[in-house]
Amino acid sequence: MTEVATTATKATAATRWVAGLFSAALVLVVLQGLWAGMFIEQDSDLWVFVHGRGAEASILTAGIATVLAFATLRRHRSLWVVGAVFTVVLVLIAYLGGLISDDGLDSLIPVHVPLAMGSLLLGTWLAVKSWRLVRE
Ligand code: HEM
Repeated sequence: MTEVATTATKATAATRWVAGLFSAALVLVVLQGLWAGMFIEQDSDLWVFVHGRGAEASILTAGIATVLAFATLRRHRSLWVVGAVFTVVLVLIAYLGGLISDDGLDSLIPVHVPLAMGSLLLGTWLAVKSWRLVRE
């Protein structure tokens, strides 16, 4: 009985971590829009730098959440599959961002920004789904 209770507590703690990390990744992606607004308005390299570091932080957070979901919530397949898609899409967006900034490929901005909008949908779905699991 105690063992069952301990397992249930562990599962809840892991689910809370997954939900918290996916939510943090979502907030970081929303902030990417804010940093972009700052460098567009002020034409400042500082905000491009912040935008670059924000990309790394969001990828790391989404990746850790996905690995944790895979390790602890394996039967909730949609969570870690969509988490993996979210992480890969963020890597792709960041790669395109690097091409825009470093190689001057501005023609990729109309791909970079809509992909960022799509990642917001994925992040929102992951945050809602994982907090629902916490409450189950
Ligand atoms: C609405 C959201 C976003 C907008 C409007 C936006 C816009 C842009 C623009 C215009 C650039 C080129 C900056 C320049 O060199 O002048 C850029 C670069 C970049 N973007 Fe975004 N972006 C958005 C979201 C994201 C997201 C979600 C990620 C990844 C998680 C990302 C990752 C990057 C990276 C890594 C760069 C290169 C920065 C550097 O060179 O350090 N962006 N973005």
